[in-house]
Amino acid sequence: MSGSSLVSGFYKLSPEERLGFVKEFAGLSDEECALIGNTGSLSMDLADRMIENVVGAIPLPLGIATNFLINKRDYLIPMAIEEPSVVAAASYAGKMTREGGGFYTSSMPPVMIGQIQAVEVKDPYTARMRVIQAKEEILKKANDQDPVLVSVGGGAKDIDAKVIYTIQGPMLIAELHVDCRDAMGANAVNTMAEAVTPMIERITGGHVYLRIISNLATKRLARAWCLVPKDVVGGEEVVDGIINAYAFAAADPYRAATHNKGILNGIIAVILATCNDHRAIEAGAHAYAARNGRYTTLSTWERNEDGDLVGSIELPMAVGMIGGAVRTHPIAKIALKILGVETANEFAEVLSAVGLAQNLGALRALADEGIQRGHMSLHARNIAVAAGATGRLIDLVAERMVEERKIRMDKAKELIKQYKDSGKT
Ligand code: MEV
Repeated sequence: MSGSSLVSGFYKLSPEERLGFVKEFAGLSDEECALIGNTGSLSMDLADRMIENVVGAIPLPLGIATNFLINKRDYLIPMAIEEPSVVAAASYAGKMTREGGGFYTSSMPPVMIGQIQAVEVKDPYTARMRVIQAKEEILKKANDQDPVLVSVGGGAKDIDAKVIYTIQGPMLIAELHVDCRDAMGANAVNTMAEAVTPMIERITGGHVYLRIISNLATKRLARAWCLVPKDVVGGEEVVDGIINAYAFAAADPYRAATHNKGILNGIIAVILATCNDHRAIEAGAHAYAARNGRYTTLSTWERNEDGDLVGSIELPMAVGMIGGAVRTHPIAKIALKILGVETANEFAEVLSAVGLAQNLGALRALADEGIQRGHMSLHARNIAVAAGATGRLIDLVAERMVEERKIRMDKAKELIKQYKDSGKT
């Protein structure tokens, strides 16, 4: 490393010039620069228009989870993720749920909440009433901002207001409810929230600071449920194990965080494949899991009267099929085509089913054989590749490391040498 990171006008440089600067700063080789600068199917020009200060792109593996039957329709699920086992576990869980009829889903209309924060309001409770009473005027102003959204049945549909107590005193928070149709909606909602600000200031007599979408999208929940016959999941003991795993997570936030991480493994992989906003989904999911004051699970698992396993999930799902990178990134467009969803609601429901499947796959493995066996063989392959194994040697080295329960770089290197010396490669 050398030099200062204080650079003026970095954004004005071309990606190649920026990379030249980084090369010098970080001591990158020509080969490393060529790798970063190879943007693959995303042209450098497009990448450079998507975000700021672009120097290249980072490819992720794109896998397809199979076997998904959702509302009696077959789906292939594109997943972009760096973690081994996730795609395999989703496919396996998809297969198990098929035996019980697959997933069933539902969702709320795609309504997002835009918050407008008014401070120094003298009579916050009366101001709240005045805001609610001015609904028609406020909605009209909001909807004037987006005639296209309104023309397809979306737009601002309602206004609510609440008084909150903060270290800065009481505040009046007005909340616009905007039906975003097939968009994620951040742009539409933020524009509307900004447009109605002068009105909110006039009506409340306060001063407005923030006007921004909330990622706790409680008006845009997606739900999925499934039944897995007990024999398919591995018998009564495995059903017991899964329900105990759920009970553990439901009662303990430390476990709930990992339980929900498993759910998000699946959802976020699809979100990444379709270039949606994964931070919005993660923030919404975790906030929803803590909505009652204590962080808990997004899914539930129980036994029905036949002793079969029944799972359900409910979480906010602010996803879009239009706007942003979803429609500009060439792979995201193809991923959506593979998914074959027609509306953001259908997309949200498929995502909730994928989350439930991923959770089932993880809990089944944890309750039965433990997660490490499946995980480790893929991990071992990665270590073998990183240690320099190629072709047939990758599997040979990975298998030996798993057998000997020593999945480490030094072990991989030792085995590669052994195989090479013995001429068995
Ligand atoms: C690993 O990425 C995800 C799991 O830890 C989820 C879980 O524990 O439920 C396996």
